[in-house]
Amino acid sequence: MINLSMPISLERAVEEDAEDLASISKRAFDTDIDVGAPFSEPGGPIGYDSPSFQKRFMKNLVCYKILLEESIVGGLYISSRSNQHRVLERIFVDPPFHNRGIATQAMEILWGIYSNVQLWTLGTPEWNVRTRHFYEKLGFKQVGWEGGDADFRGIWYQKVMDPSNPYEMMRIGELRDGLKDVTVEGTIKSKSEPRKVRSRSTGKPLTVGNANFVDSSGSVTLVLWNEQIPQVKIDDRVRIEFGHLTSYRGEKQLNVGWMGKLVILL
Ligand SMILES: CC(C)(COP(=O)(O)OP(=O)(O)OC[C@H]1O[C@@H](n2cnc3c(N)ncnc32)[C@H](O)[C@@H]1OP(=O)(O)O)[C@@H](O)C(=O)NCCC(=O)NCCS
Repeated sequence: MINLSMPISLERAVEEDAEDLASISKRAFDTDIDVGAPFSEPGGPIGYDSPSFQKRFMKNLVCYKILLEESIVGGLYISSRSNQHRVLERIFVDPPFHNRGIATQAMEILWGIYSNVQLWTLGTPEWNVRTRHFYEKLGFKQVGWEGGDADFRGIWYQKVMDPSNPYEMMRIGELRDGLKDVTVEGTIKSKSEPRKVRSRSTGKPLTVGNANFVDSSGSVTLVLWNEQIPQVKIDDRVRIEFGHLTSYRGEKQLNVGWMGKLVILL
């Protein structure tokens, strides 16, 4: 019998934990249909029930298991945008242990491990009343919207750990070809007519459009793909997290990339 009054701990997950983490993640996310998920069947985010995905996450993210005594009761996966900026990619707790403060304790331990991090960000679906309550209780504030249409969109949250020492984003005028891991905010001033192209790797048809993205320090061409094109409107304030810079026919371009995030700011 696990003693619930014991403190929890976080340990880096290893490959041998993948089966347990996948089972717990499946049980945890399958309860989303009780908290507003617009699905007819239980489900969860990509790879949520797959041990091989947990192993992939361990290679690409920093993955912790949440331990109560010696037993795994949850998982917590993070990624790095920069030394001072981390993203909470995923957190889950086994349903029999829900609402006992375990995830809250896990986050407090995390703040301690990453005491130099100034900014934490994360996304959660708008329909998820449970996570919204949980993150807001932890001090996360909504800064914008992520993807989708009004029926299925994500809230983008951030927590500034010490408001007297805020995270300094790059300015658009500082962006140089080849820069990676760029987090930057600006305003969409104009958009080009979208063009149809084919993916060089898969041959699939794609739509690409450019936007003129500015702040008071300069401007850059923001490259938008497919569903990003209608999401972004002229005069929208936008944040790009984890973008990268390339140059195309001598023009500096900011790309969101598959790991990056485009957030329409409030
Ligand atoms: C989100 C999750 C990790 C929280 O874990 P937990 O250990 O139960 O978290 P805590 O006990 O620390 O806090 C949960 C809070 O949510 C509240 N809550 C629970 N169900 C709720 C609901 N349906 N609506 C609103 N709030 C709800 C609890 O009351 C508690 O808040 P309180 O302390 O103010 O009472 C857990 O619910 C989970 O695994 N969910 C499925 C996976 C998921 O959605 N993960 C997050 C996205 S990656």
